[in-house]
Amino acid sequence: MRASANPESALAVAPGVHWIGAFDPDLRSFDIILRTANGTSYNAYAVRGSEGVAVIDTVKLGFSETFFRRLESVAEYDEITTIVLNHLEPDHSGALPELLRRAPGAKLHVSPQARLMLKGLFDPGEFADRIVSVGTGDSTGLGDRRLEFFNTPYLHWPDTQCTWLAAEGILFSADFLGCHYCDTRLFNDAVGDFRFSFEYYYAHIMRPFRAHVRDALDLIEPLPIKVIAPGHGPILRNDPRDYVARYRALSAPGLHGASTKTLLVFYISAYGATRRMAEAVAAGAESASTAAGEVRVSLYDLEGGHAQPFVDLIEEADALVFGSPTINGDAVKPVWDLLSSLTMVDVKGKLGAAFGSYGWSGEAVPMIEDRLRRLKLRVPVLGVKARLTPTADEFSACHDLGRQVALHLLGRAVPRTIDMANLV
Ligand code: FEO
Repeated sequence: MRASANPESALAVAPGVHWIGAFDPDLRSFDIILRTANGTSYNAYAVRGSEGVAVIDTVKLGFSETFFRRLESVAEYDEITTIVLNHLEPDHSGALPELLRRAPGAKLHVSPQARLMLKGLFDPGEFADRIVSVGTGDSTGLGDRRLEFFNTPYLHWPDTQCTWLAAEGILFSADFLGCHYCDTRLFNDAVGDFRFSFEYYYAHIMRPFRAHVRDALDLIEPLPIKVIAPGHGPILRNDPRDYVARYRALSAPGLHGASTKTLLVFYISAYGATRRMAEAVAAGAESASTAAGEVRVSLYDLEGGHAQPFVDLIEEADALVFGSPTINGDAVKPVWDLLSSLTMVDVKGKLGAAFGSYGWSGEAVPMIEDRLRRLKLRVPVLGVKARLTPTADEFSACHDLGRQVALHLLGRAVPRTIDMANLV
C-alpha cells in the first residue's frame, strides 16, 4: 500500500460526494476463508444535497474513530438526514449504532430483509422509529439529489442492496463488485494491479450466489453508470462497465446446452481397485446416452489435479460421483479437500454418488454420501463398496451405479426399491 499525503482525510469522489471509509492494510484473512494479501478497505461515503447529507455504510468497529474523523471533515452531525446501510455485515455496520446516536435526526434506510436481521447485530430498540425499509423503486431525497434503492439480495447476504445517485451516476454497491485490496490511491485508475483480487473476491464471495448476481446485473446494467463505489477496494471510475461485464461473464450459465447433461467421476486409488471401479461407473453413465438425451461423462484422477480447476468444472456439472478407498476408517484427504471446496459454488440440487474399495471396514462411501447430502446434493443411488479386489458382480454394480445416476439426469430412472437392510 502506498501512503497518501494525508491518510486521515476524506477523499472527493464527485462534487458533494466523499469517501469517508478506512484502510486496513494489515488484514490477512477475512471471514476466516478469504486471504487478503495486502489488506482491505472499508468504504463508506457521504453525499451532500441541498437539504441534507446522507451517509452510505459505515466501517468495522475498530476503525470507527477514523471514520468519524473523516465524516466530521465534510459534514456536521445535525446535517445528516439519511443513513443508508447497504449490507449489515459487521465490516460495514460496526460504527452504525454510534452514528445513529451522533446523528439523531437521521433516518436509517435498509432493505426489508435487513430490518428483520438488524436485531442480530445490536438492539435497534432505541432507534426503531427511525428505521425505514426500502426496496427497488423506492428513493429518498436530499433536496436537489435523490438516492434510489435496488433490492439485490444474496450478494452475499439476504439483506444486501445497492443505492444509486443518479445526479452523479454513482452506484454504491456494497460487497457487490468490490474486492479486498488496500491502496490509499483508492481509484481504479490510480491503484496497483488488483485484477487478481477482484476475481478472487468474486470466486469466494459471489460465486455461490451467481443466479442472484445475474438478477442484480439485470437491475443495474440499464443505469448510466459513471462510477461504481463498492464497500471494499478500489472505486471504479475508469471504465466501470468493464467490471459489470466481467461479472456478467463470470456468472454466466454453463457452455453446454440444456439438452446435454454433464456427469463427473472423481476418484483416487492406491492399488488400482477404485480406479477400475471408476472406469466401470463412467462406462455405465456413458451407456445411458441415447439420441433423445446425452450425458457427457468425464473421469478424473484426483492424484493428477488440483482442486480449484475441478471446482470450476463442478459448478457447471449436473452430477458428481466420488470414488475413494477407505484408509484408517476414512475417505482420503484429496477427496475431502475437493468436497470442502464445494462451499465456493452452488451445488444444491445436483446429483451425487460414491463408491470405493476397502480393506476391512469401508466407511468412505457412506461418509462421502453423507457429506454430499449435507451440501444439499441429491443422492438417488446407493453407493458401491468392494472389499479389496472387486468381483465381477461389484464391477457390474459400479456400471449400474453410473447408469442409474445418468438415467436420473435424463429423467428416465427406474423408481428405486429401498432394501430395509440398507437403512440400518
Ligand atoms: Fe464486506 Fe459481506 O461484508
